[in-house]
Amino acid sequence: MNQKLYMVSLGPGDAELLTLKALNAFKASDVICVPTKSEDNSFNKSISYKIVQDALTLLDMKKTIIPVYSPMHFVYEDWVNEAKVILEATQKYQTVSFVTLGDAGVYSSIYYLLDIIKKKDTALYDSCEVIAGVTSFSAASAQSKKALCLGDEALSIKPINPRSEVHTTEILMRPKIGMDTTSLGEGDFYTYENMYLKDAKTTPSKIERVKKYMTLFIKYAQRD
Ligand SMILES: C[S@@+](CC[C@H](N)C(=O)[O-])C[C@H]1O[C@@H](n2cnc3c(N)ncnc32)[C@H](O)[C@@H]1O
Repeated sequence: MNQKLYMVSLGPGDAELLTLKALNAFKASDVICVPTKSEDNSFNKSISYKIVQDALTLLDMKKTIIPVYSPMHFVYEDWVNEAKVILEATQKYQTVSFVTLGDAGVYSSIYYLLDIIKKKDTALYDSCEVIAGVTSFSAASAQSKKALCLGDEALSIKPINPRSEVHTTEILMRPKIGMDTTSLGEGDFYTYENMYLKDAKTTPSKIERVKKYMTLFIKYAQRD
């Protein structure tokens, strides 16, 4: 059985802010794993559950929902238990979605879960697809008709209550064609060129010279 796992970003709350990729992942899934903070596995307090139900209504579909108890205490053992529920689901069903609020790349537990899943089932990890979504702050900016960054401004996202030293991910955009990238510094760089377009290319390092305007660099935060 070729198992498939989707990590689906739900956007900030409105099902209309789900992507087509998210809806297609739900369509393809046999079950959808939905986090809940309730110990009794009820969904009374789960925003994610409401979005998933709204999405299934839009799709005019019914899917089995598997609750994933997620106390959000930032405890490794909890992530192990959450990953266990997802792994068990993939042993029973061929295609499984797990959902996360906003965009998966921003303060979501999915990368803690994926680290654990990678150790327990590399093939499943390799088959896993993370679906990008609308962040809470993109939606907030749109609601208020206020740009997040204009002209030469930068954008900063910070944890209000950090538990340890704050490391920063830098997103570097709007390069000049032909520019030498030495000045961008060193670190855990990825280069993304023409994403989703013709000649799309992702390089897991910093390219030396910019060839296309549609190039963005991410220097990922230092992680152990
Ligand atoms: C664990 S982070 C998840 C962020 C999410 N992955 C994103 O892309 O926006 C939770 C924080 O996101 C912000 N947030 C997420 N959804 C929101 C919403 N619907 N309204 C306001 N803030 C929201 C709040 O600051 C909240 O404390």
